[in-house]
Formats: sequence, structure tokens, C-alpha cells
Amino acid sequence: MALLRIVNYPEPVLLTVGEPVTQEEFNEDLRQLVDNMFETMYKAQGVGLAAPQVGVSKRFFVMDVPTDESESNKIAIINPEIIVQEGEQIGNEGCLSFPGIYTKIRRESRAIVRFQDVFGEWQELDANDLTARCIQHETDHCDGIVFLDRMSVLKREMAKRKIKKLQKEGKWV
Ligand code: NI
Repeated sequence: MALLRIVNYPEPVLLTVGEPVTQEEFNEDLRQLVDNMFETMYKAQGVGLAAPQVGVSKRFFVMDVPTDESESNKIAIINPEIIVQEGEQIGNEGCLSFPGIYTKIRRESRAIVRFQDVFGEWQELDANDLTARCIQHETDHCDGIVFLDRMSVLKREMAKRKIKKLQKEGKWV
């Protein structure tokens, strides 16, 4: 396994709609990349990491959100389609492509996602709370949307100012 470089905002790949993973791409290369993304995510102490964040403009992500039922819920979600979104939750959110930026974001509290696993089999996951938040955040990455786009205008301006400051200080590359 190998660690991958996580790109920071505003790398163009983060703002580009990812290509779907095609049937012939469900192979060992994909599974190796998924393994490397898990390793990279755990090393960075994140709970989700999408392909565009490691420079791959494709629609998939890995996540592992601890829940009351289980400490590890490791899952790779390929070609996600959120088919149900309902309720509301407001909570703190961060992103590995925005190091040091955390802000409250409104999301739906429940999400059902239809997706393919690493072998191309279609599955469904019905999730609540933090897992639902993560699914929405990572599916956004697959669509070229970053959490900055989900902030209120005021919070977005504050975050942009902080990023500019960090860039000037050479602490954001
Ligand atoms: Ni993110």
C-alpha cells in the first residue's frame, strides 16, 4: 500500500465533476487505489476521502465513520446516487482538502445511497447522523462541489479569508 497526496482547495480537480467508474474499470487497479485511499484517509485522521481529493476525477469515495454499533464501518462507495434525503442536522464539518477549516453546515439527517462496491455489485446504504453527513459531503466531492459551497455567505467569506492568509504564510499548498 502507498500513501497518496491529498490536494488542497482550489485545485481544479476538486471543482470538476468526476467521471463515472465504468464496468471495465472494476479491476485490481481500482481495488489497489481504494486500499491506498483508505490508508491515506486513516493517516490523515479523516472519516471520508473522495477520489478527486487524491487527484483522480472519478465518482467514488471511501469512508469509515464510527457509530454506536461499531467502531469501524469501512466502506468504499462507487458511482454514488443519493436516492433519499430527508430531515435536518446542523453540525461541525471539516474536509481533508481544507486543513484547519471547520464550520457548522446544514445537511439532511438521513441519506439512502445506491452505489457499486469494488466488485461492481450494486448495494444500498441507509444512513443517519454523521454517516449521512459524510455520504452527502463525499458525494458532493464526486460532483465537483466542496463544503465551501454549502456554507452561508458569511462563513464562506470568513473561510476564504483564512485560506488566503494561510496561502500568504506558505501554510496552504
Ligand atoms: Ni471533503
